Amino acid sequence: MPRVTFVNPDGTRRDIDAPAGLSLLEIAHRHGIDLEGACEGSLACSTCHLIVDPGWFDKLEEIQEDEEDMLDLAFGLTRTSRLGCQIILSEALDGLVVSLPEGSNNMML
Ligand code: FES
Repeated sequence: MPRVTFVNPDGTRRDIDAPAGLSLLEIAHRHGIDLEGACEGSLACSTCHLIVDPGWFDKLEEIQEDEEDMLDLAFGLTRTSRLGCQIILSEALDGLVVSLPEGSNNMML
């Protein structure tokens, strides 16, 4: 099983082995990681914003326009920001490292 590491805003890390095919949002929810995901993956909120480790960013599937539009509204956007509901774990992403931002904007409110 591929492993993904979530880094909390306080710097603590959680390594999680999870089945390929799940989104990072689903993995976070299954393991009690504090990633909101208010719209449950329907690209309508941006509360699943994650900051991808720069060394991994180019290995992800290319970002789609819908995700980009929603991401523009995310709190604390960075050059390696993505939406966690759109990153699907795969064997090729074994070792992926993502950080949780300090806060989020919920566009559904
Ligand atoms: S969970 Fe709402 S955009 Fe990802």
